[in-house]
Amino acid sequence: MNRYTLCLGLIILLVTGLTSCGGSSEKANIPNNVSALSNKERQYFTNGQQLYQTLCVSCHMVSGEGLGKLIPPLKNSDYLLANVPGAARIIKYGMKGPMMVNKVEYNQPMPANPRLTNLEIVELLTYISNNWGNEHGAVTLAEVAENLKEKAD
Ligand code: HEC
Repeated sequence: MNRYTLCLGLIILLVTGLTSCGGSSEKANIPNNVSALSNKERQYFTNGQQLYQTLCVSCHMVSGEGLGKLIPPLKNSDYLLANVPGAARIIKYGMKGPMMVNKVEYNQPMPANPRLTNLEIVELLTYISNNWGNEHGAVTLAEVAENLKEKAD
């Protein structure tokens, strides 16, 4: 009986070990900058991921690569990374007209999300600017409030 329990224990340990190994190597395939974030910012990142999956993924894709010439990428986007808090305005008020991202011109409307709170915008920005190899770091509520205040028409 004792030997049996020991053996079973070992098998369970082995299986759990293997499963968690598989899990972590899967995660490593999606490069993100979470290790550089504080606990609070990690929570923003996680909440931002949920919001992204609801509001953004249909256009900007799980990979953040956008869609051909129609939807610009967020992954390695020179436009986004040049001014991450500035993108708060795009998220809240939408955008239209031609724009350049990584030397490619895009010209399709991006819908507004007027009901998002400043906190939700911080969460979204934390997620998109620290995922897919982007390494912006922290986005603060003060930065987002500042950018939304300037020209809130
Ligand atoms: C219906 C498709 C669509 C959805 C949904 C959408 N976007 Fe966009 N987004 C666009 C398009 C198209 C542009 C380019 C706008 C232009 O050409 O003026 C854009 C531009 C952007 C830009 C600036 C350009 C860049 O690539 O860096 C950011 C940042 C952005 N979107 C983030 C988001 C976030 C975050 C969400 C979710 C809250 C979102 N978008 C939802 C279509 C979409």
